[in-house]
Amino acid sequence: MAAGPVSAGRGAEAAATGHYNDKIVHWFTVATVFWGIVGMAVGVLIAAQLYWPALNFDTPWLSYGRLRPLHTNGVIFAFGATSLIATSLYVVQRTCHTRLISDKLAYFVFWGWNLAMVGTVITLPLGITQGKEYAELEWPLDLLILVTWVAYGWLFFGTVARRKVEHIYVANWFYAAFIIGVGLLHIVNNLAIPAGLWKSYPIYSGAVDAMAQWWYGHNAVAFLLTVGFLAMMYYYVPKQAQRPIYSYRLSIVHFWALISLYMWAGPHHLHYTALPDWAQSVGMVFSVVLLAPSWGGAMNGILTLSGVWHKLRTDPILKFLIVAISFYMIATFEGPLLSIKTVNSLSHYTDWTVGHVHAGTLGWVAMIVVGSIYSMYPRLIGAAGMYSTRLVDVHFWMHTLGVVFYIVSMWIAGISQGLMWRATNPDGTLTYSFVESLVVTYPYYLGRLFGGILILAGMVLMGWHIWKTWKSVEAPVANPVIPPHPDTARS
Ligand code: HEM
Ligand code: HEM
Repeated sequence: MAAGPVSAGRGAEAAATGHYNDKIVHWFTVATVFWGIVGMAVGVLIAAQLYWPALNFDTPWLSYGRLRPLHTNGVIFAFGATSLIATSLYVVQRTCHTRLISDKLAYFVFWGWNLAMVGTVITLPLGITQGKEYAELEWPLDLLILVTWVAYGWLFFGTVARRKVEHIYVANWFYAAFIIGVGLLHIVNNLAIPAGLWKSYPIYSGAVDAMAQWWYGHNAVAFLLTVGFLAMMYYYVPKQAQRPIYSYRLSIVHFWALISLYMWAGPHHLHYTALPDWAQSVGMVFSVVLLAPSWGGAMNGILTLSGVWHKLRTDPILKFLIVAISFYMIATFEGPLLSIKTVNSLSHYTDWTVGHVHAGTLGWVAMIVVGSIYSMYPRLIGAAGMYSTRLVDVHFWMHTLGVVFYIVSMWIAGISQGLMWRATNPDGTLTYSFVESLVVTYPYYLGRLFGGILILAGMVLMGWHIWKTWKSVEAPVANPVIPPHPDTARS
């Protein structure tokens, strides 16, 4: 990366006003909120089913086993990845001072991606699945995703190549890693031999299949649920705080450290399995080391507020962004801890893992998405701000309380399960039966459900608020004139 004017958007809007394709960003943004509501509604339903199993109404397509992957695909790909496409197309135009290389390609990406997501909503409840976690979709949908992803990469990198400034702002590096990383993972883990239109067999088998799957699974966490959202952090936090990133140099160290370490951590999902012991240890060591760049990067985001901490009192959008980074720190402290083999022997198979997952996904991912959308949306349609700051604040508290209810319930449930399952009597027999551990867990499932309902209600409020903001602008303009920001460079 060349030195030079480093900015999250300095003068970009003014320089290229009227030349950006913001309509496509608007479409992707609305789709993000829509899929967020759908994915989290399914999450609430399965959380309720874990408390009241009868809620499947003896209907196969409402059964837990089919809805759980619908939830994970809905929130990770339909909500998470759509938000990343939306913001990347917004950020790349502004920081490269140029319009997307092709409108047609942009609309193709929109329809291709959303068609694949509709296919997900239809096929998973029908029980059509490869049975690989987060890679459940069958080969026709995988191919559609591949074609769309290549088109998206072409659009993004083509726009970077046509930039009017020499420098490539660091957020684009993170988006680039997300696009290349996810493409690579998708191809390698989905290599399969079709055995009919909706059935295929993976080319891998045994421990190799497990390793390929968790190399994929962990790097989906790395390149989708982490790196992409760090790109959001590097653009929207300085933008909203109107401050330069704390240290640009640190952001580059952060980037290269994450990229070089993450790829090796996958085996921590396969402790005490048929995977060779040395591979498990490699996974553990790389996971523990990951704490350093994760926290370094998070501090870089938080310290961007140096000198303007008082803004947190009045700006709920900033609260969303900063609390998101705090949850990122919680998840990336907990992750290395869980990867230590002795800790994992307690946590694996318990709800502690589920608590860790949602500290990352609901605390970090969902909050950075929501904050970034609230920050970007008014600029997108030429409004002075969101319709009501108070409503953003209400949403902030609903979401934050919801996440706390969710993860604290799962921590208590998970650690109780782990301790009860391993307790033995002096004669070597188990102290507790499985059902006894279930009875202890039960109240916490209700706590999680309550948290989930709060979060879902917040998302519905956000959908209504977006609509209200859109309506409040007399004639929403596709490419509004927005005054440039002060230079966001510091070091
Ligand atoms: C209203 C919000 C949400 C609720 C109520 C919810 C609920 C649930 C439930 C009940 C499970 C199954 C746990 C189990 O099998 O024991 C689950 C799994 C999962 N959820 Fe969510 N969820 C929500 C939001 C999200 C979001 C926003 C994401 C991602 C961006 C996410 C990602 C996941 C993942 C990756 C798993 C699988 C975890 C594992 O295999 O350990 N969830 N969720
Ligand atoms: C330094 C960073 C991190 C490390 C070292 C790490 C490590 C781990 C470990 C050891 C597990 C448990 C594996 C098992 O017992 O099965 C796990 C599960 C998981 N983590 Fe993390 N984690 C990190 C950050 C995150 C973040 C930020 C997110 C989300 C945004 C996340 C999402 C997940 C998911 C979805 C799973 C469940 C996978 C599954 O079994 O389906 N992790 N992580």
